[in-house]
Amino acid sequence: MEAFIFDLDGVITDTAHYHYIAWKELAKSINIDIDEKFNESLKGISRLESLESILKLKGREYDFSYEEKVILANKKNDYYKELIKNVTPKDILPGIKELLNETKDKGIKIGLASASKNADAVLQNLQLKDYFDFVADASKCTQSKPNPEIFLMAIKGLNVDPKDCIGFEDASAGIEAINSANMYSVGIGDENVLKEANYIVKNTTDLDFNTLIKKYIQYYS
Ligand code: BG6
Ligand code: MG
Repeated sequence: MEAFIFDLDGVITDTAHYHYIAWKELAKSINIDIDEKFNESLKGISRLESLESILKLKGREYDFSYEEKVILANKKNDYYKELIKNVTPKDILPGIKELLNETKDKGIKIGLASASKNADAVLQNLQLKDYFDFVADASKCTQSKPNPEIFLMAIKGLNVDPKDCIGFEDASAGIEAINSANMYSVGIGDENVLKEANYIVKNTTDLDFNTLIKKYIQYYS
């Protein structure tokens, strides 16, 4: 095993919920209502593509120019940035710090493959930056998950073989991206949503280092 590569929002911390609150607020300002079920489809998707998807809900994707869409997406990001100001190490999801420590102790590299351009700020607020050997830069990524690009960037940055990596995701698009990158995929959350994952746990507390390695070895043997 060479590397563990993590998604951020909804895996390391519950910022997935903050993205939802910020999108809900933005959508409300243009008279669109979104619920948690719809929000599931936004997880892992880039900012502008998420906006496009919200507008499509009401067939309004042609009501706004590109410039207006950028303004709306920036407004959502302003809400989001306000929300993540309050993120502290207390917001690291249970079990994650233990897993990161054990991974480091075993000499396994740690990477981040988040679609968020705010990933660095969130890692900073969580005081987790030092754990990461490589953080893929979402602003250099041209294709959203389920495209594997961001995971491939992390694999390259860590200089590892994808077959020797485990990827962790809370979104169905993310699991698809990990699978397309030829890594072993671990889904965290609802098994109906994450059914394409090689191994699924309900919560981050269920991420046990030895079990992960055991499942990974079983898969390839
Ligand atoms: C992903 C989130 O990690 O990042 C998405 O799951 C979000 O909900 C995407 O839209 C982009 O984030 P940001 O911070 O660049 O708007
Ligand atoms: Mg996520």
